Amino acid sequence: MGNETTEIRKKRIFSGIQPSGELTLGSYLGAIKNWREMLEEYDCLYCIVDMHAITVRQDPALLRRRALTQLAQYIACGLDPEKCILFIQSHVHQHAELAWVLGCYTQFGELGRMTQFKQKSQQHADNITAGLFTYPVLMAADILLYQADAVPVGADQKQHVELCRDIAERFNGVYGDVFTLPEPFIPKMGARVMSLGDPSSKMSKSDPDGCVFLLDKPEDIRRKFRRAVTDCDTENCVRFDPENKPGVSNLLTVYCAAAGKTLAEAEAEFAGQGYGAFKPAVADAVIAMTDPIRAETERLLRDKAYLQQVYAQGAEKAAALARRTLRKVYKKVGFIEG
Ligand code: TYM
Repeated sequence: MGNETTEIRKKRIFSGIQPSGELTLGSYLGAIKNWREMLEEYDCLYCIVDMHAITVRQDPALLRRRALTQLAQYIACGLDPEKCILFIQSHVHQHAELAWVLGCYTQFGELGRMTQFKQKSQQHADNITAGLFTYPVLMAADILLYQADAVPVGADQKQHVELCRDIAERFNGVYGDVFTLPEPFIPKMGARVMSLGDPSSKMSKSDPDGCVFLLDKPEDIRRKFRRAVTDCDTENCVRFDPENKPGVSNLLTVYCAAAGKTLAEAEAEFAGQGYGAFKPAVADAVIAMTDPIRAETERLLRDKAYLQQVYAQGAEKAAALARRTLRKVYKKVGFIEG
């Protein structure tokens, strides 16, 4: 007789966001929006990866506040704690423990090739820590600890998920089938939202002018889109052409992801209209999406007891799964059971 529980188990999803700043429109469209769409079909764990955040210096009080705000935002975005496991990474100590083991199965050269490490070590040239370097190992531990089948992320995290697979394959090659090999899940629309100020770089929390935050007020969102860089062409027509019209193409992607339309539908809608009419329409679509989230986040943040209960229960459920994997790993590598 087969093992029934494994046969009927839904596929599992793991993903996380660093509380190193406010959630952005990029992290919403690239990640959270898809997380929500997976709630029914998959067993989902969504994490606030505070241990990743300290790979660059953080203000402790601010980090604490952001982690709690991020939890409230997850819930406000529709990640119902009754339907998924929401938790804070540092509450489940197995992440750090598995990361140590996996670090012993990861090559220095592999980590040196990570694009994000190269970028961040340039940005923080005075503080290139071992943590910044080994960060993808901790991310691999996050995913493998839960035997996740898929990892919904934006395009910038694909390389890290691929490294995670490589590490898992290597480990399985030595010890047998210990880890499920995860697939990256990259959305069709919104996988790489670009800065409103410079459409050649990714929208990121470290660039507040080019970045829309999920908690921005409508007037700020309107102002940011009004100032968004469109393209220096004389055409003034709304058409998707990332090569020649990166600014407009980025706005089109945001519009489609926010309004739930295809590129063809959006192009048809704005045919014959210039950027002047288009930009406020993008702002309105974004506001319609973010405003209810902002209001609900503010409401939840007034109920700290509820948030505490959510993260405590989440950590308990996550730890039960994590313990199982870590025990197996410790046994495989030859540690005596304590
Ligand atoms: P982080 O915190 O930088 O970003 C969180 C998620 O948002 C996506 N994202 C974007 N998507 C589209 N356009 C953008 N401009 C944009 N900016 C951010 C990211 O791709 C990501 O999905 N290492 C991860 C956090 C992490 C993790 C994990 C993710 C730690 N452990 C395990 C998945 C599984 C990170 O720094 O994401």
